[in-house]
Amino acid sequence: MQKKICIVCGARPQFIKLAPVLHELAAYPDLDVVMVHTGQHYDNNLSADFFSELNIQAPKYNLGIGSGNAGEQYSWIISKLSPILTAECPDMVVVVGDTNSTGAAALCAAFHQLPVAHIEAGLREYDLRIPEEINKRVTDSVASLFFCPTQTAVDILKREGKAGKVVLCGDPGLDLIFHHPENVAAAEQILSELNLEPGAYYFATCHRQINTEVRENLASILRAFSLLDKPVIFPVHPRTREAIINFSLESFLTSNNIRFIDPIGFWLTQALIKNAAKVLTDSGGLVKEAYFHNVYVVILDTQTEWVEVIKEGRGCITGPDIDKIKSAVSYTISQTANAMSLGNGKASKKIAKGINDFFK
Ligand code: UD1
Repeated sequence: MQKKICIVCGARPQFIKLAPVLHELAAYPDLDVVMVHTGQHYDNNLSADFFSELNIQAPKYNLGIGSGNAGEQYSWIISKLSPILTAECPDMVVVVGDTNSTGAAALCAAFHQLPVAHIEAGLREYDLRIPEEINKRVTDSVASLFFCPTQTAVDILKREGKAGKVVLCGDPGLDLIFHHPENVAAAEQILSELNLEPGAYYFATCHRQINTEVRENLASILRAFSLLDKPVIFPVHPRTREAIINFSLESFLTSNNIRFIDPIGFWLTQALIKNAAKVLTDSGGLVKEAYFHNVYVVILDTQTEWVEVIKEGRGCITGPDIDKIKSAVSYTISQTANAMSLGNGKASKKIAKGINDFFK
């Protein structure tokens, strides 16, 4: 019997994780997919470019919520998604990750008494000052189908006594890289365009609230970048660019050692990660991708939900501490085995099957 699945997304990392899942869902003719984009991300280089680059179908609805604080984004998403759920009558709502779009859509679906499937379930940062942590917990509290990227996430859900079906699947974003190394190879032309030699630069991103809303943290991170022994290639999220200006940190924009560039697409990012001496980031997505490419990652946050990376000696946590960042870039990865604890290319297949099996 035909079942309708409403997938809600809204921000860059969700498009990346959904691309391979949508591809696999197409193999199930009984599943009718309706896509809703909340509009949380609206700039082309954070949204539309990913849809074309990763071949994602255009969403049927765009709620156009735009930027706002978490409370505003939650209320706009819930009020605009609610009539769509009433009109479409889906059999399930699928959400992914831990953005405000994830938490708000999951809550809205729960109020409509709809089953919620959460892709990237069970991760915890254990700090409710982090908006993503609130979104993780809100979403898992109403979900009934949990797709976990790691055994750690499965164990957390077990400990929390969650009722529902738990599927250990790995990270679907990594499926893209696993199955399309040729796209990474083709994107490596960016190195010559940026005049970079493999292993002779650091690749960095920074956009988490703790690092962009606290002047001291952002200033420390930029200062550390400016002092490193290799140039730092730094695609800047609009939130971070705004913070640099608002905090009067513009002097770093002309630092000799930091090359600020606009946000770049998925494959170019992979090429720059793969060839970097180290990755420095507060993005969970980049932590995973660096791990996958066997590149040591310096986490500019005070914790990570990707604990496997630390346990396996493939990264360390420095927070915005200048000395720690400076000494962390001298670490090397001691293990040479492939980094497979976060996914082995099968996540999206398992997710599509799990969604289909839910209705059996
Ligand atoms: C959001 C997610 C974060 C994810 C990140 C990926 C939450 C709480 N956070 O953070 O988990 O890692 O997306 O990028 O949901 N802006 C633009 N253009 C856009 C979108 C945003 O200029 O298209 C600017 C606006 O000034 C906005 C700010 O960026 O206020 C923050 O955007 P928002 O979507 O609230 O959070 P992100 O920092 O992108």
